[in-house]
Amino acid sequence: MIWNPFKATSQNCLGIDIGTSSIRIIELSSSGKKKKLENYGELSAEVFSKKPFKVLQQNSSLLSNTDITEAILAILSETKMKTKKAVFSISDFSSFFTWFTLPWMNKEELPDAVRYEARQHIPFPLSEVVLDWQIIKEPSPRQEKKNLKILLVSVPKEVIEQYREVASLVHLELFALEAEVFGLCRALIKDKMFSLQSEEQGTVAIVDIGSQSTTASVIDRGVLKRSHSFDIAGNELTHALSKSLGLERKKAEEIKQKYGLSQNHEFSEDIRRVMLPFIDLILIEVEKVCQNFYKTEEREIRKIIMAGGEALIPGLDRYFSEYLKMPVEIANPFSGVFYPSILENNLKKMGPLYAVAVGVGMRGIE
Ligand SMILES: Nc1ncnc2c1ncn2[C@@H]1O[C@H](COP(=O)(O)OP(=O)(O)OP(=O)(O)O)[C@@H](O)[C@H]1O
Ligand SMILES: [Mg+2]
Repeated sequence: MIWNPFKATSQNCLGIDIGTSSIRIIELSSSGKKKKLENYGELSAEVFSKKPFKVLQQNSSLLSNTDITEAILAILSETKMKTKKAVFSISDFSSFFTWFTLPWMNKEELPDAVRYEARQHIPFPLSEVVLDWQIIKEPSPRQEKKNLKILLVSVPKEVIEQYREVASLVHLELFALEAEVFGLCRALIKDKMFSLQSEEQGTVAIVDIGSQSTTASVIDRGVLKRSHSFDIAGNELTHALSKSLGLERKKAEEIKQKYGLSQNHEFSEDIRRVMLPFIDLILIEVEKVCQNFYKTEEREIRKIIMAGGEALIPGLDRYFSEYLKMPVEIANPFSGVFYPSILENNLKKMGPLYAVAVGVGMRGIE
């Protein structure tokens, strides 16, 4: 028998991101305050079934359950992950975010007041959605009893049911479900940033460009203040390249990933001419979110963090930085996580792709 009274108990959790083009699973463990990467794996829809894992509908993104179940089981068996506890991310497209203020009241009165107020803000019947909310600004004890600022997230019941069903079909214990953007915040916004002297340092935007959708969010001193999802993303870029340059989709994908916006090669002018109008459309939306935040809160965004597969397009970070006139970083969700040093180079390239999975996985080991 091993007797080790000082060993901190460790716990493991899976973070599962069901994206349109790929499913990614990360296994994390914690021992005391340390977070450790135990395992990871992914399967792309292209390889698995040639069909996307999710389809966008009017106001949500629906899962193709059979393919997803089989793909998750395949990843778990290939990587030999044994952990059963899992947190799944819900597509931002299926999550509706809204912010409002309520007069100061006791905590016991709040749930009813939030539900009542939610009716004015949510464009669907309350009976069809699940609500989650948090107080984002409470008056300090010395202040007068002022208003309470509330962040409310609503997700269609149908979507929640689908994730529950998937978890049960793959025999995982569903510890939590959370919107992708919350996973990104946990993985990418480090506490240290918010303890810096200047308050402004604490305002950043995260732009997650996937294959089907893009989400631009503003995080102010650790709190989500804006989030907007729209359906211009990687697929549009690949499709435009394939159509305009007369290439097969696979070839178009290849040159997008290889050359991107880089210059001084024989295809650079053609590729830039086709891709830039779509990239500018994404930037216009990102700019709108940033400006809208600035107009109401009068706080400047100091940095953009790019996540999602498109963040890896060569030269895109630089183009974003020049267009938005601010520093741009590529997501590195592994910065506070221990891992074998041999993985260093791989993890750098995986950062933007695994950021959501890492962030929701962390929720289960906190
Ligand atoms: N190494 C790479 N370089 C450039 N682009 C890449 C790279 N890897 C993936 N991509 C692009 O990123 C996109 C996929 O990103 P990601 O995996 O974040 O999307 P997803 O999560 O499956 O989709 P969504 O979030 O829209 O549901 C694809 O359009 C793909 O072309
Ligand atoms: Mg995604």
